[in-house]
Amino acid sequence: MQPLFGDDLVPRPRRELTPGATWVPGWLSLEQQRWLVARYHEWAAGPVPARGAKVRGHEMSVKTVCLGWHWRPYEYTREAVDVNGHRVLDFPDWMVRLARRALVEVSGDAHAADGYTPDTALVNFYDLGARMGLHQDKDERAREPVVSLSIGETCQFRFGNTENRGKPYQDIDLASGDLFVFGGASRLAYHGVQRTYPGTAPEGCGLDTGRINITMRVTGL
Ligand code: SIN
Ligand code: MN
Repeated sequence: MQPLFGDDLVPRPRRELTPGATWVPGWLSLEQQRWLVARYHEWAAGPVPARGAKVRGHEMSVKTVCLGWHWRPYEYTREAVDVNGHRVLDFPDWMVRLARRALVEVSGDAHAADGYTPDTALVNFYDLGARMGLHQDKDERAREPVVSLSIGETCQFRFGNTENRGKPYQDIDLASGDLFVFGGASRLAYHGVQRTYPGTAPEGCGLDTGRINITMRVTGL
């Protein structure tokens, strides 16, 4: 039985963690989350399946499928040369609009997204025990903001500094529907996912277990 007064009743206000890095809890409605999960199943069906990318010989526990450009450590290509050689799906127009809306949301400036046209999305699936070590998103040539959306189980997300993997960092719980944007002085901050919390996906989000994270980026390619 769900307790009547659960954590979901504690308000989670938006927060700027560091200059340029803003967290907006509960940005997506459950209906939007379900719709994105349905799109995820289409993307993962191919032409390039979701796979754990190899980083220095080790397969990542997170499974990734890409849109627009295919990411593998250190490089973007149109074809998934490390998977099956097929070209990845196009970056959808609706996703450009979604990402622009996110930038307007975090800035409060209707023109903040003028000229912002993301051309790749890394869509990550975390199942039980999956995590992502601290890293910088620096394989893009451009330094436009990264827009991140989370669906499904809550995770502990660590957002640090631009110098190294050590302190200062902040640990926040990214939950289903949360938006996180990092750009400007925080664009190259180290970040990662420490763990996901089993059984925390809200009813109606479209996922019973696991976590989906979508990051939209500008490759500059
Ligand atoms: C990433 O750093 O690419 C993914 C972050 C997340 O899963 O929240
Ligand atoms: Mn990243």
